[in-house]
Amino acid sequence: MNILGIETSCDETAAAVVKDGCEVLSNVVYTQIPLHQPYGGVVPEIASRAHIEKISQVVGEAIAQFRTASVRQQEEGRIDAVAVTYGPGLSPALIVGLNAAKGLAKALGVPLIGINHIEAHLHSPFLYDAGDERRLKTGDGRPEDVAPALGLAISGGNTMWVDMPEYGAYEVIGETLDDAAGEAFDKAAKLLGLGYPGGLKIDRMASAWMAETRSRSEVDSGSSDLFIPFPKGRPRDGVTALAGLPAELCVSFSGLKTALLRYVQKEKPTEADLPRIVASYQEAIVQAVADRTRVALKRKKYKSFILGGGVSLNSRIRAVLADVARDAGVSLLMAKPKYTGDNGAMIAGLAYYRRNHVEDAMTLDANPCLEVGR
Ligand code: KG4
Repeated sequence: MNILGIETSCDETAAAVVKDGCEVLSNVVYTQIPLHQPYGGVVPEIASRAHIEKISQVVGEAIAQFRTASVRQQEEGRIDAVAVTYGPGLSPALIVGLNAAKGLAKALGVPLIGINHIEAHLHSPFLYDAGDERRLKTGDGRPEDVAPALGLAISGGNTMWVDMPEYGAYEVIGETLDDAAGEAFDKAAKLLGLGYPGGLKIDRMASAWMAETRSRSEVDSGSSDLFIPFPKGRPRDGVTALAGLPAELCVSFSGLKTALLRYVQKEKPTEADLPRIVASYQEAIVQAVADRTRVALKRKKYKSFILGGGVSLNSRIRAVLADVARDAGVSLLMAKPKYTGDNGAMIAGLAYYRRNHVEDAMTLDANPCLEVGR
């Protein structure tokens, strides 16, 4: 079954065709980052206009690539359904993808499947390309085989721990009370003059600094002043923002951001000080995420830990969470780097597992606050 997936929830216009939930036959992503860079963050009106300008081209390219792949595989090249992100995200941006998807579903005479963006991030580790080793087709690692699983969706818009008792069933067990991890990275980068978006830049700068520091064996000698001690984002028990979730499974990054601002105001660092600052800031985020993950993995017997979202590309997060998963005896599933950020393949892929939740094409509405598991 070939599903065309469309994603326009934020600042990527994306479309892809995925076969049977996991095999990516085409994948096109147009990123609007340069358009938002002068503003240091995503401007919804600019995002919406850019989606309108690009959607036909992106979808057209995804279909053309799919047809080429089908000819190569000597297959018919038929699209059996159209899937689209209908939330959460920016309302004016979601509407563009939704309208395109409605039109296509009607024109092709196929069902439309509405997909939750965060749930789709948790599907990204299952995506593979035609040339890849077919590990996911048999044995462990297919969506059908991984439950019960703990999911962590960690991106520019979300940081959320999700209990998945079976594949396609989701219950949020912890989340950020304020900024998402990606937002925390981006705001720090802006404050330090590193540009937008800042996650990848901080990752690279921190990695280089840590490699150099390690080579001086400071890490292994346990030097206590290696990292600047930024707060580790643990919310207080009983605060109303927890909304019934346990504090031990939630994070709060707003204090971390303020601590960075105070540090910069007080210490007036030079450019040479930046690598240690960003590595320490990153470490505070990584350790907060690792700590909550350890707690979540102890609360229930899981088979797998599924990691998805733009921030799951972070090299330190990948390394530390791999240790956490190994210590807990669960297998860790992470997306290929190109599927960590927003893309249409994760939408099309998850739709295969949600194909029985088919919506009436003309009544599906954008839901900017769509909850996970609803
Ligand atoms: O998943 P994504 O494309 O968008 C959302 O669904 O939110 O994630 C984008 C976020 C940005 O905040 C970006 O700074 C962050 O992912 N990011 C990273 C890295 N690469 C992207 N954060 C930390 N380390 C990275 N290597």
